[in-house]
Amino acid sequence: MIPVILSGGSGTRLWPLSREAFPKQFLSLVGEGSMLQATWRRVGPLATHAPIVVAGEEHRFMVAEQLREAGCTDATILLEPVARNTAPAIAVAALEAMRSGEDPLLLVLPSDHVIQNEEAFRAAVREAAPAAQSGALVTFGIVPAGPETGYGYIKAAGGAGVRSVECFVEKPDLATAQGYVASGEFFWNSGMFLLLASRYLAELERQQPAMLAACRHAIDQARREVDFVRLDHSAFAASPSDSIDYAVMEKTAHAAVLPIDVGWSDVGSWAALWQIAEQDGAGNAHHGDVLAQDCRNTLAWGDSRLLALLGLDDVVVVDTADAVLVAHRDRVQDVKGIVAELKRGE
Ligand code: GDD
Ligand code: MG
Repeated sequence: MIPVILSGGSGTRLWPLSREAFPKQFLSLVGEGSMLQATWRRVGPLATHAPIVVAGEEHRFMVAEQLREAGCTDATILLEPVARNTAPAIAVAALEAMRSGEDPLLLVLPSDHVIQNEEAFRAAVREAAPAAQSGALVTFGIVPAGPETGYGYIKAAGGAGVRSVECFVEKPDLATAQGYVASGEFFWNSGMFLLLASRYLAELERQQPAMLAACRHAIDQARREVDFVRLDHSAFAASPSDSIDYAVMEKTAHAAVLPIDVGWSDVGSWAALWQIAEQDGAGNAHHGDVLAQDCRNTLAWGDSRLLALLGLDDVVVVDTADAVLVAHRDRVQDVKGIVAELKRGE
């Protein structure tokens, strides 16, 4: 089994801590090390081969250094000259994995998720392996905590263990998501997949032939250096841009899902981080040097100086060297609006 770690996102929702030059996967948010390092450590015991990490050209040194620091010295780091979303990123990883003539199982993982029960997660991957080996594109389902519109929704056939998928709907609108959650029949897509490299490529051949051709060309013409494999620029740029969810999972007849309960979070907002962070008796979560009096349900995050909070409820304070965020906990989803506004002013 080859871990394929996707490290191309440019998380804006944890601004001002995450930036374009320093996205979420490189941050240390919970536990030890960065999210990228935690991703690798979590699946190390499952890996039979070195991982393939797919990342943007501009982040290459950070990826290489963080992997080395985590004890992973043999990763193949595929560099994308431009971002084309996850379907092409997984395609080049699958093509790379098959260069040896083997057809390995790929465990496709976002680099910016938290999993609190790692042992249970590894057990789930082992449970999913036989179905994936027989040709299913297996994803891992999460019981929805609410009608979030940023997720894929999966309706599974009845039964236990790995089940076939009746429908997969990526990022539905709010009313649809509310209906799905109320029905009790849907899972969230965790964004992690277990599939045979050849099955994924066969699926692309059928659904996305232009994407597959561009990715093939980008790997065939790649520049192979000591530390990095640089995809051919013009070939990769010619690929359509799409996510695996829209490009493959919504359309395939071979999707399967294994529901998991492993303390999963994609830390999609400061509120999500507050939820999984250690809290005091009044629901306050603090990172760094923080003094809070008469506060409830606050998140205070700083590194360099004392943060003092007094008499606040439901407030998020994030202090960095050049920007401070102060927001109501219910409004942190809109941080991306602030980032957009800042970009317009650039
Ligand atoms: N290499 C590479 N290149 N990685 C990428 C790219 C890219 O162009 N775009 C995104 N990624 C990485 C991100 O860093 C992240 O780790 C992962 O792929 C998923 O991308 P997101 O952009 O975070 O996707 P999403 O959160 O909108 O949706 C996905 O995840 C949800 C769960 O968190 C989907 O799979 C949803 O269905 C799912 O519910
Ligand atoms: Mg995500």
